[in-house]
Amino acid sequence: MSLDKKFEDLFLNVSIKAALSSYHFVGKKDKIAADKSAVDAMRNKLNEIEMRGKVVIGEGELDEAPMLYIGETLGTMSGPELDIAVDPLEGTNFAANNQPGALSVIAVAEKSNLFSAPETYMNKISANVPSEGIIDLDYSVKKNISNLADYKNKQPNELSACILDRPRHKKIIEELRNLKVNLKLISDGDVSGALLVSDKKYNIDIFMGIGGGPEGVLAASALDAFDCFFQGRFIFDNENDVNRAKKMGIDDLNKKYLLNEIITGDSIFCATGITNGDIVSGIKIEENKYISETLITHKSTNLKKIIKSKNEINE
Ligand code: FBP
Repeated sequence: MSLDKKFEDLFLNVSIKAALSSYHFVGKKDKIAADKSAVDAMRNKLNEIEMRGKVVIGEGELDEAPMLYIGETLGTMSGPELDIAVDPLEGTNFAANNQPGALSVIAVAEKSNLFSAPETYMNKISANVPSEGIIDLDYSVKKNISNLADYKNKQPNELSACILDRPRHKKIIEELRNLKVNLKLISDGDVSGALLVSDKKYNIDIFMGIGGGPEGVLAASALDAFDCFFQGRFIFDNENDVNRAKKMGIDDLNKKYLLNEIITGDSIFCATGITNGDIVSGIKIEENKYISETLITHKSTNLKKIIKSKNEINE
């Protein structure tokens, strides 16, 4: 089974509408309003689609967030059963402060094919390598870099690594520096960070470090279409997180997930730029029209491209 091609345009439209909606709050120093606007637009558009959709990655759980919560059903309730992962505004600081990198992101798979992740941190690693054994969450930084350098026929000082600039990564960053690896430290936005390994043009060989679990699942969805390697391990470091994980059916709290344990089968992924970023440009307004850029992938049709769209603002 695969997802009908018509869903490419439908989810592209969802992602674009969420991005436009959030764009109106760019630079307004209000993360919550920017996020809410993207959530509302995404939810409204998703509800128009002929599907029986269920949110597996969303804006929290029922008791915390009224919109796009995990388990919420979406769509006209006819048509295929789909799992939906959303991050209507990825990079709330970027949008609030008018900085590069804010995105609207959505990933869709057939029912029971997309991992339902709690909102905890995840230790992640990704690279454009074909199989297990080259990089691994359980290898030392040195081993990962030396294996990757061998695989790519390069020296460690010719490799580039992307990692969130956080105090928790001090040791990894120091180790990478000692190995003379080129660093791209990002202040936020690790969906985009992980995706930088997908194409040579971004000049990033490896992405690593701890970021959001939901963001990890979303990145894995796109990396699957690019045949990249991804591993993630959730971090449950307090009683509340442990209980939530158990409630979601996660028994082995230390499990290291491979990409194909996070997403299987066919999937569609869309990420639309709100502000300019490394992968896509942000929304641009031209009189009563707006231009948007979206990275879209569809695994079964091998679609992997950036689509530039021009739409009427009041459409
Ligand atoms: P928001 O869009 O929710 O603000 O997330 C931005 C982000 O940078 C993610 O890309 C990343 O996974 C996470 O925050 C990292 O969390 P923290 O800022 O707590 O290190």
